[in-house]
Amino acid sequence: TTDPLVVFTPSGKRGRFPKGTPVLTAARQLGVDLDSVCGGRGICSKCQITPSYGEFSKHGVTVAPDALSEWNSVEQRYDDKRGLKAGRRLGCQACVMGDVVIDVPPESQVHRQVVRKAASARTIVMDPATRLYYIEVDEPDMHTPTGDLERVARALKSQWNVPDVTTDLATLSRLQPVLRKGGWKVTVALHKASETAVPRLVAVWPGLHESGLYGLAIDLGSTTIAAHLTDLETGLVVASSGIMNPQIRFGEDLMSRVSYAMMNPGGDREMTAAVREAINALAVDIAKEADIAPSLILETVFVCNPVMHHLLLGIDPVELGQAPFALATSNALNLEARELGLTSLPPSASVYILPCIAGHVGADAAAVALSEEPGKSEDLVLIVDVGTNAELLLGNTTRVLACSSPTGPAFEGAQISSGQRAAPGAIEAIRIDPETKEPRYRIIGSDLWSDEEGFDIAAAASGITGICGSGIIEAVAELRLAGLLDSSGLLGSAEQTGTPRMIPEGRTHSYVIFDGTATGGPLITVTQGDIRAIQLAKSALYAGARLLMDEMGVETVDRVVLAGAFGAHISAKHAVVLGMIPDVPLGKVTSAGNAAGTGARIALCNLGARAEIERVVRQITKVETAIEPRFQEHFVAANAIPHKTDPFAELAK
Ligand code: FES
Repeated sequence: TTDPLVVFTPSGKRGRFPKGTPVLTAARQLGVDLDSVCGGRGICSKCQITPSYGEFSKHGVTVAPDALSEWNSVEQRYDDKRGLKAGRRLGCQACVMGDVVIDVPPESQVHRQVVRKAASARTIVMDPATRLYYIEVDEPDMHTPTGDLERVARALKSQWNVPDVTTDLATLSRLQPVLRKGGWKVTVALHKASETAVPRLVAVWPGLHESGLYGLAIDLGSTTIAAHLTDLETGLVVASSGIMNPQIRFGEDLMSRVSYAMMNPGGDREMTAAVREAINALAVDIAKEADIAPSLILETVFVCNPVMHHLLLGIDPVELGQAPFALATSNALNLEARELGLTSLPPSASVYILPCIAGHVGADAAAVALSEEPGKSEDLVLIVDVGTNAELLLGNTTRVLACSSPTGPAFEGAQISSGQRAAPGAIEAIRIDPETKEPRYRIIGSDLWSDEEGFDIAAAASGITGICGSGIIEAVAELRLAGLLDSSGLLGSAEQTGTPRMIPEGRTHSYVIFDGTATGGPLITVTQGDIRAIQLAKSALYAGARLLMDEMGVETVDRVVLAGAFGAHISAKHAVVLGMIPDVPLGKVTSAGNAAGTGARIALCNLGARAEIERVVRQITKVETAIEPRFQEHFVAANAIPHKTDPFAELAK
């Protein structure tokens, strides 16, 4: 007689097993992705399956398919304590009694896919670096003396096939009391720095640990620090939080912070202490928000630009301020929380920092590459991450190039006369009628345009506070489209343009978007200075893109991806009219949202993704804008709106 056939869905994996084989055992042997923390002891419930066809055992007695919801005593006990869904069985308890089909529901798969909102976003597959293992450890014995750690290692080997394990002093010092408290039954967390690395014992709990494991994905920007607390079993973000980077008091932008370190002995250490303190506070806050203990945060992933990277690590960034812009290391780093002074996290918690691409192109750009995968694109894609510095990636399956460009903070609303950060009260969108030259606009916090019915001008007058980055880009592009601004970037006078909205300002002219001065409100204008600031920023961005295109030997790109929180709000049309990005059909411009943050989450949830980005980064060709003479030429040509020589089809429409 042949053994029963066992088929697993959705994987389709199948094999024959002797009658009485537990489903978990069959799954293991076939390489089916079925979770288990307790190793088949019937207490963790991670191994739940749904029998869909065939005969399974119950109390060692064969039951008919319609009685599949009946459980054995272990399952019954589990159901009494915690509840087991009808139709579900524990894979370690149900045994195969005949030909069967077994469904593994998503929540029982270790490598489950994380459900994400955006359809275009890359899926995240769970494969975390830190995992839980429940073990039963031999008690010490005077006659065959061995240490507690050695007996833990033996249990891991015999019960989980983990060949070797290391630990550190912080965890070792907790081991003895926890083993005794748990009556020699404990759950350990093992962290693997890579697929082949010896696992490190990073935490231990008495008995079965059931309150989960968490990780932090941190996007450490020069202006803001954003963190996503992620459940390392499901991959879901359970809380998100952000704070201002306190290093701002040492300098608004990166270069001013580097010069602060250069001019002030110990300045780098001050900035390191400030950012670490902020991260510690952020970790406490976010854990509180999710109602979990910070001690459950056993993984943290950082993405950041090179200067933030060095200051986080406690390395003086002075070399990054001068050619040849050498990084202390460009490799990815596997560290422990204690080495970075992250005292709110457990001292042994692991910290992974993505690799940097070059002295000006950091781990944040690497994270964008991980999330957007330019190297897997068939068509040539330009990815632009707009911030105080713009990071650019250009590539397809043959090659990927990267550079950064010093756009300055104008795109974020800084250095703009009425500029402000994107916040309620800021004008975020604007249209100017080419005939009447009259503006209409939309304010953050309101869905209505200013000329729509229901728009309350009086309320708006007291609510408008300025123009944010996306608003100023639209304003400049709209001024150009309405013929109020010439291609050199000069605003016309009221006489030249025929509209009283142009008012003199010294020897130049400004365009009035909103005048609330009669009622004590603000006067919101676009000045000639604003135009110049935007011209500088957009020329730098475009010149960076052109430099990459030169290097690639192309005149056009197939599509453009705007990344970054700000990128999500830029209108493609206005970006092209302004000549910020290369001229592509508008349908070919997409937004990727916070791609660096997504990359951090991918690296947090998936160990293989870390190996992948480390490999990808080594293959990216870096182009250094600061020393490239052509950058200057491209910059000057891109000063015109949209450009001195390059054709821009959108404006001609
Ligand atoms: Fe833990 Fe089945 S493996 S309950």
